[in-house]
Amino acid sequence: MDKPEILICRDATDLARKAAEQFVSLAGRAMARVGRFAVALSGGSTPRAFYELLGSAECRERVDWSRVHLFWGDERSVPPDHAESNFRMVQEALLAKILLPLQNIHRMAGEKDPAKAADAYEHELCEFFALAPGQLPRFDLILLGLGDDGHTASLFPGTVALPEQERLVASVYVEKLKAQRLTLTLPVINAAAQVMFLVAGSGKADVVGRVLRRSAADDLPAARVRPANGSLTWMITQDAATSLSK
Ligand code: 6PG
Repeated sequence: MDKPEILICRDATDLARKAAEQFVSLAGRAMARVGRFAVALSGGSTPRAFYELLGSAECRERVDWSRVHLFWGDERSVPPDHAESNFRMVQEALLAKILLPLQNIHRMAGEKDPAKAADAYEHELCEFFALAPGQLPRFDLILLGLGDDGHTASLFPGTVALPEQERLVASVYVEKLKAQRLTLTLPVINAAAQVMFLVAGSGKADVVGRVLRRSAADDLPAARVRPANGSLTWMITQDAATSLSK
């Protein structure tokens, strides 16, 4: 992987706009190349404004949604209508505003038994990407956020999902959150054609510096994201990038 591209954004609105431009461009290129665009969405709060912009009148017409397949990078073990659900967040911000064929929505079943839901999602990836045994899915784009402990997706420090090298999808109990999660594993993330982190807020400035300095002593989950044959872009608001100039 080449050095990551770092795009500093004025604020969260600028971040959403730049991310939407990248999404539209990457979608067009993927459709021209292979006829569809397979993207794994990130959860949490940061990407919401970006998803809302994608679903806005000025943006949604620029994407041929009939050829977009939406996956999730991770999900909380809650029903899809739960306030904590990443699916619900995307449903409200984007899906409610676009015409996306139901078969193009690949939701992680957070409401089901976590181990079974992980198996089912892994099967869905194998089917969609027509994977041979041992082969990894190659998403056109994987969107990621960054937690202040350096986690990304639901790959948290010290959890069994982080070192997982065989599974495509893991279910993991996160002690610090007292919560069960589903997550794509690092091999899947690092097999993507393009990975894009969206990070906003002064509260993330310290961890952004630690992750991008990549000091081995500080082996944070997000620092392990290095697409082997893909590109990595960090879209960071100015107030989250203050430690980069030190
Ligand atoms: C989740 C996310 C998680 C998130 C980070 C940042 O399900 O919560 O996948 O990895 O991206 O925790 O969250 P914020 O954007 O809310 O800061």
